[in-house]
Amino acid sequence: LTKKDFKGKKILVTAGPTQEAIDPVRFITNHSSGKMGYAIAKAGSNRGGEVVLITGPTYLQPPRRVKVVKVKSAVEMKEAVFKEFQEAEIIIKAAAVADYRPACIADQKIKKDDSNLKIEMVRNPDILAELGRQKGNRILVGFAAETQDIIKNARDKLVKKGLDMIIANDLTVEGSGFGTDTNIVQIITANGEIKKYEKMGKIKLAHIILDKIFCLLS
Ligand code: PMT
Repeated sequence: LTKKDFKGKKILVTAGPTQEAIDPVRFITNHSSGKMGYAIAKAGSNRGGEVVLITGPTYLQPPRRVKVVKVKSAVEMKEAVFKEFQEAEIIIKAAAVADYRPACIADQKIKKDDSNLKIEMVRNPDILAELGRQKGNRILVGFAAETQDIIKNARDKLVKKGLDMIIANDLTVEGSGFGTDTNIVQIITANGEIKKYEKMGKIKLAHIILDKIFCLLS
């Protein structure tokens, strides 16, 4: 029987990619399937948490007993997160948010001609960094998807975004990161602790992340 150690705790989870529209038929996105964030939402709910899942477009079935808010772009995700975050005691950001979006969304489908096409991109808001500034005594957990200098880059994000914990996935190894049912991570906490984990299923990892959060709560 699953322990109900998160009973009544309000947990906000983000999952999936964002889609940044170019015109009515095209967008820029990334390879996130949503599996990691959905696994956390499911595990949190099974342990008694009141979970809100804010999700970019995915093909996954949302977990039962979870409030699901569907968004497309990073700007929409930011709005949804800030609508829900006041209530939340724990915020876990597994979504892969696009850092840039096209400066303008064309009203009509862009027609091709013989010249190259240039799309100007502007910065998206950094949702997690903004949460870090407003976190109060909430627990704030981020992910870092890295291809090099994993610990250094992840630790920089933890400090810059004011996080309690960051889960760094190494995207260069098979069975880790985007799209897979498994992940290979190192978990870094704000007190400087770094722990390396073997490859495991995303549900199992979700429970480990929740166990660590539980320790931070008490
Ligand atoms: O969805 P899956 O296929 O299961 O894949 C899981 C995953 C690889 C997407 C997930 O484990 C993961 O690593 N998610 C974060 C990916 C990412 O965008 O990392 P980042 O290093 O670019 O961002 C760092 C953190 O800041 C993340 O928590 C991200 O949600 C957040 N962020 C980033 C940019 C931005 N504009 N706003 C943000 O809030």
